[in-house]
Amino acid sequence: MEILSDASWALILADAARALIFIIPAWLANSSPVLLGGLFPIDGGAKFSDGRPLFGRGKTWLGLAAGICVGTLGGVLLAHLTYGTGFAVWGENRANYLLGAFLLSCGAMLGDLAGSFIKRRLGQGEGTQSYVLDQLTFLAVAILLALPLSPPVLTPINIAFLFVITYFVHRGANWWAHISGLKKVPW
Ligand code: CTP
Ligand code: MG
Repeated sequence: MEILSDASWALILADAARALIFIIPAWLANSSPVLLGGLFPIDGGAKFSDGRPLFGRGKTWLGLAAGICVGTLGGVLLAHLTYGTGFAVWGENRANYLLGAFLLSCGAMLGDLAGSFIKRRLGQGEGTQSYVLDQLTFLAVAILLALPLSPPVLTPINIAFLFVITYFVHRGANWWAHISGLKKVPW
């Protein structure tokens, strides 16, 4: 017995594809500093009141700028490819495609920074592995910053889907970056 018809599956898959297209700027922003960052630490070596680094040497201005630029440019490229199709994720207002990609990218970088701040407060050294904080804080803040633009794709089910898929994609991408020699550690 069929639980869902072919037409229902097609709708579900199209919605999942839209959710992925929507989040790609945040993924691009989060991943590009590994290749393009590494210079000018944001905390300038400053310590918090607990004596530990504020963010640590892994969070740099170059990485932040690269993440925002690459994520925003990626979003604009996606907008060109999808505008006017069923995969246009920001509706009809063209300005929202640029603003949305920018907000997702800024959110991803701020969330990543917040994740490192929390890791340092928990006493976790720079570059150590943290389940959830490494993979999901950037996503949470990216989605929070995008929410005021009310993208139709951000339904509760799609948000849940993005949290699950981002966790695994992040782990897979970091493992791949490690075996390709781009990252010292596989997380
Ligand atoms: N990176 C950067 N600037 C950022 C974020 C990342 O330059 N704002 C670069 C750094 O070279 C960093 C690498 O990307 O080492 C990997 O990033 P990430 O895994 O997020 O940082 P970690 O070094 O693991 O540090 P943390 O423990 O604080 O997450
Ligand atoms: Mg890390």
